[in-house]
Amino acid sequence: MSTTIGVTGPHPSTITVGRDLGFAPIAAVLDEAVMKVLIIHARPLAARAVALAEHLRSLGYEVATADHPDAEAGKAIEVVAGLWDTCGHLQLGRKDVIIAMGGGATTDMAGFVAATWLRGVTLINVPTTLLGMVDAAVGGKTGINTSVGKNLVGSFYPADAVIADMSLLATLPRQDLAAGAAEVIKCGFIADPKILRIVGETSPEILLDPSSEQLAEITTRAITVKARVVSADLTEGGLREILNYGHTLAHAIERANDYTWRHGDAVAVGCCFAARLAQARGLLSADDVARHDQLFSRVGLPTRYGGSTLDELTHIMLSDKKVRRGILRFVLLEGIAHPATVSVDPQELAAPASQIGIRA
Ligand SMILES: NC(=O)c1ccc[n+]([C@@H]2O[C@H](COP(=O)([O-])OP(=O)(O)OC[C@H]3O[C@@H](n4cnc5c(N)ncnc54)[C@H](O)[C@@H]3O)[C@@H](O)[C@H]2O)c1
Repeated sequence: MSTTIGVTGPHPSTITVGRDLGFAPIAAVLDEAVMKVLIIHARPLAARAVALAEHLRSLGYEVATADHPDAEAGKAIEVVAGLWDTCGHLQLGRKDVIIAMGGGATTDMAGFVAATWLRGVTLINVPTTLLGMVDAAVGGKTGINTSVGKNLVGSFYPADAVIADMSLLATLPRQDLAAGAAEVIKCGFIADPKILRIVGETSPEILLDPSSEQLAEITTRAITVKARVVSADLTEGGLREILNYGHTLAHAIERANDYTWRHGDAVAVGCCFAARLAQARGLLSADDVARHDQLFSRVGLPTRYGGSTLDELTHIMLSDKKVRRGILRFVLLEGIAHPATVSVDPQELAAPASQIGIRA
């Protein structure tokens, strides 16, 4: 069984979520004009990519596959340039298709290739990590890294279709599943309290079991939250900012640790911090704050941070590309599922920071 979620707005598209979907939903979105397909895949997905290629060849398409260096190493201009050459050798035309199969690093980078080859060819995302399904593959942000920072080069280029097959998560390490669950729980706090109830009532083993109904339901719900937000605001003019709940501090933690922290782990800490900031402003209760700690730690995510000092983290937050005139911006909850973006004086950070173990 599968669920189809629509993204509306200037670039309408569909997201299909289900289990054991096979290749039919991918073939179904190739229209009559398509002759050639390039499948760009993460290396752990090589066998799956070859099987998809064989299936599409049996339907009459000319298909090539290409892998890339793993994770962040794949989000490099040299990798993109190599794939532009692959597109050229294949003579991939304006009406042809790139399929990105892998985690967020793959869909970010392959999406950028699709956005730039011949100024844009059809893109189909096949996310194979939980983070990819609920976040990176949905919403149109593509990007690569440069020597001066992460994700500084890219474009808004939504996939024409996203096919999220839960059965592909079976080989994903548990820590990566948990990191993806951080974004799912974040969606619960900003927009869908049913996610929070399911996480609170389900044993961690079942929650992180790729074959469980519960993981399928919270994944579908989180994708629905993201689809709704990007339908209203594709390019971060306003509403989309709410997806950054927990991310202001998370990005600083990731940078302070040279990106050795998983993004989802940092987001969990960032949400627990933002909850305390909201409590200090009288927006959330002590119970709401405790619920943040309980739900993130339930799936094995960190809720405390004892690395860099608050001074170091504040310095990094103030140098973020989104900060203007030295004013920090945080998404805070004015009650569960009522997010708002607020300006925060750096002095306000001290008490919430010490509560989650950050040194002065
Ligand atoms: N575009 C966006 O809106 C957006 C949003 C969030 C994150 N991101 C980006 O996403 C990236 C992180 O994504 P991620 O957490 O998926 O990491 P990732 O893509 O690096 O994948 C994590 C690891 O899992 C492996 N892998 C992928 N699928 C697998 C599977 N089914 N079985 C076994 N191994 C598998 C990958 O090869 C990699 O080693 C970052 O680069 C981040 O900047 C983008």
